Amino acid sequence: MYLFKLQNAIDVLQQIQKKHQHAAFANSFSLEDMVLTDMISSHAPNIENFTLDTGRLHEETYGLIAQVKARYRTPIKIYFPDSNDLEPLLNQQGPNGFYENRDWRKACCHVRKVLPLKRALQGKSAWLTGLRQDQNVTRAQLRIMAWDEQNAMDKYSPLFNWSSEDVWEYLRQYEVPYNILHDKGFSSIGCAPCTRAVKLGEDPRAGRWWWENAEQKECGLHVA
Ligand code: ADX
Ligand code: SF4
Repeated sequence: MYLFKLQNAIDVLQQIQKKHQHAAFANSFSLEDMVLTDMISSHAPNIENFTLDTGRLHEETYGLIAQVKARYRTPIKIYFPDSNDLEPLLNQQGPNGFYENRDWRKACCHVRKVLPLKRALQGKSAWLTGLRQDQNVTRAQLRIMAWDEQNAMDKYSPLFNWSSEDVWEYLRQYEVPYNILHDKGFSSIGCAPCTRAVKLGEDPRAGRWWWENAEQKECGLHVA
């Protein structure tokens, strides 16, 4: 089953490369995104790579970005929040306003992630993500390809049907580097102030925005 899913993901990447002159992979350096980083570099190197540096990532994530840049030849374009958007946000809610209420949390994600994503996707005809169906209830209906209304382009999730075990199998098989926070109890990793380690048996996304319900745990990058 794993080998079938692996071949399927590689086929899709090659088809995207063939069909789209400007397709871009949104790379957060998560476990899934490390699988895609490795696969794209080997099988579809014309797919562009970008990351959204929110300015609030863990030092360990910045360390991994440096490691990836050294190991893979694929250039990774970095997008950062626009200071014209960030300053009003900080003046309104302070540096850690996201803990106060959901609207402020969404506003922070909007300025630090959604607006930079819009810039990153300018001039592209398709984008790729490392989303998987079993990551969260909000992702259960995910398909390998869907029309993204928000960004008006095709959105691909080549690992849509992969399990967490499949992801780890790939990383081990190809000795792909990953975020060392995963060895310290972290499961899903986002911004430092909004991510914490999970306990054994806890939901993998329990450490993301742990003060919110599972149905709300989306940052706005992925609208169903
Ligand atoms: S989130 O909505 O909860 O933040 P998650 O961390 O699960 O998303 O990541 C899902 C996918 O969204 C990743 O595989 C990646 O494609 C994209 N993504 C999330 N955060 C970023 C980021 N900072 N930079 C680039 N892509 C990202
Ligand atoms: Fe802001 Fe937290 Fe969203 Fe990062 S995850 S953009 S720090 S609210």
